[in-house]
Amino acid sequence: MTSTDRKVNYRPFTFFGGKGGTGKTSCAAAYALALAAQGARTLMVSTDPAHSLADAYGAEIGFEVVKLEENLWGIEIDPEVEAKKYMKGIQEKMLHIVSAAIVDEIKRQIEIAYTSPGAEEAAIFDKFIELMESLGERFDAIVFDTAPTGHTLRLLTLPEILGTWIEHLIEKRKKAMHMMKMAARYDSVLAEKIEEDPILDTLTARRDKFDLARKILTDPERSVFHFVLNAEKLPILETARALELLRNHGIATGGLVVNKILPPEAGPFFEKRREAQEEYLQDIRSRFAGRKILEIPLLDSDIQGREQLIRLSPLFADLDG
Ligand SMILES: Nc1ncnc2c1ncn2[C@@H]1O[C@H](COP(=O)(O)OP(=O)(O)OP(=O)(O)O)[C@@H](O)[C@H]1O
Ligand SMILES: [Mg+2]
Repeated sequence: MTSTDRKVNYRPFTFFGGKGGTGKTSCAAAYALALAAQGARTLMVSTDPAHSLADAYGAEIGFEVVKLEENLWGIEIDPEVEAKKYMKGIQEKMLHIVSAAIVDEIKRQIEIAYTSPGAEEAAIFDKFIELMESLGERFDAIVFDTAPTGHTLRLLTLPEILGTWIEHLIEKRKKAMHMMKMAARYDSVLAEKIEEDPILDTLTARRDKFDLARKILTDPERSVFHFVLNAEKLPILETARALELLRNHGIATGGLVVNKILPPEAGPFFEKRREAQEEYLQDIRSRFAGRKILEIPLLDSDIQGREQLIRLSPLFADLDG
């Protein structure tokens, strides 16, 4: 059997992470193409504010899911836009509560939520959960191209951190509602309106969603995180640290994609570089022994469209072992 007809044994959620510029976007796109080619309805998601998925694939991809080809869709999530949408959602919910006192209180709550650290990541996460929920109906597999390591790790460890933060907001909100109820004792209209509390409902719903996301992320049958690196010193060290961190958060890590390996036909001029890469590859093999290690050649040009991706995608059939 050739690598071209090997079926990828994919998980529903696959993440590609790694240091900046190593080739995360290119690898995520090539992998997604491999899944689509074997008939899996695949969605490529970019959570990188730099939005390079469109460049790699060579097509317009925006905030809405767009079909790219048979079995392949793409979407780029912009944290700022998502954060604004989320805020607007809450504001709309509060419209039917007219009392000035409550409007002010709600505004204050939103302010707190949106000046808290992690607000943008939280908004990406909402979107992420929305996509998770669409799995099975529209898609069989979702492939995430993530932002450089630090940012992504923060995002993935968010359900844990945010869980605590939301819990705190819920407590605060409950106290605030209690105060308002006391104030509304002589105002029956107001009292009736604050019976329902959209803010508390939203916060609680959000907490439940984060719990769900955490369950999915820490289930090795459903989620896996592959690292893209180059055969160089710093990416190796960063990968080792990131693997450790994800492990501490209970997130399953998969294979390593060593990208941009100089091919033999690079010629005598690159001989020294090739030797250096070979040494780093040895280091990678011994350091990360037991893990699937995929070697992806450096192509003769940047990856700026489907043509180049298609050349690489069959190599990804081995990534999931
Ligand atoms: N195997 C390869 N052969 C040739 N060029 C490659 C290869 N892999 C990636 N590139 C090129 O290297 C550059 C970086 O790749 P890519 O954008 O995929 O990396 P990234 O890790 O997503 O970067 P960032 O951290 O900026 O998001 C791009 O110009 C891409 O076309
Ligand atoms: Mg990228």
